[in-house]
Amino acid sequence: MKKDNFLYTFAKQIFKFVFPSRLVKSTRLFIDLYSGKFAYSEDCLYTYVHADFLTDQKFMDAYKKGHALMLPSWGDYQFRWRAYIVCWVAEHVRALEGEFVECGVNTGMLARMIIDYINFPSTGKQFYLLDTYEGMAAEYSSQDEMQRSKHMGYGRDIYEQVKETFASFNVRVIKGVVPDTLQQITAEKICFLSIDMNSAIPERKALEYFWDKLVSGGVVVLDDYGFPGHEEQKRNHDEFAKSLGVQVLALPTGQGLIFKP
Ligand SMILES: C[S@@+](CC[C@H](N)C(=O)[O-])C[C@H]1O[C@@H](n2cnc3c(N)ncnc32)[C@H](O)[C@@H]1O
Repeated sequence: MKKDNFLYTFAKQIFKFVFPSRLVKSTRLFIDLYSGKFAYSEDCLYTYVHADFLTDQKFMDAYKKGHALMLPSWGDYQFRWRAYIVCWVAEHVRALEGEFVECGVNTGMLARMIIDYINFPSTGKQFYLLDTYEGMAAEYSSQDEMQRSKHMGYGRDIYEQVKETFASFNVRVIKGVVPDTLQQITAEKICFLSIDMNSAIPERKALEYFWDKLVSGGVVVLDDYGFPGHEEQKRNHDEFAKSLGVQVLALPTGQGLIFKP
């Protein structure tokens, strides 16, 4: 049938009406997902884009070490692209001056991966790990944030477990509520800051406290930046970034990155 033919155009319109492009696309996505055509499909991220890090043995070994610390309430949840970003950032800043900090550590999955991936002991740096190690801080968290954390299974006292996990590394485990514990980080320079407290006010306070200590080229990783349900954190981080004249780089993993100029 010729393409400028009336019948052809008519048939095409009918096809489009019966099978709207959204239906065709979503059917195709479903079939591709089912037949394993996606290069990556976990942690809210489904893509055909190459995920070469999945075959990088160094990364996968590090991931395994951290993933082994996952809370039982998370089942077998996987988040390899997010972990890969964090490891990549850690490697990227390791030659810079300054220490590593994570606010919101829980059992220490990400920190443990980083330690393995970049051979952290060989850097001679300190890794400061700040958390209550017993869940959210009610005095700084909204009802919604408290509620969500219950579903995630935070709240059990895991301080001794975390101390044991990191006992043989150049790590300082700092127990207590952020922002109240921030003053304990007396390091004048930091090059890596991971913020993952699922709580807008403490996250903002941590970012404000560490920004001046972050060396040029240093990187902040905001774990929940683009995730639905975390809009208040995003709003706070965007507002702070804007006040500094920098932008948060939004990643498809849901993370946000800030590079210190
Ligand atoms: C999403 S988890 C962190 C996960 C962690 N980054 C990992 O690699 O597994 C959030 C953590 O933030 C902690 N947290 C929330 N609010 C806090 C606050 N104000 N001060 C200190 N820790 C807090 C909780 O205790 C919880 O362990």
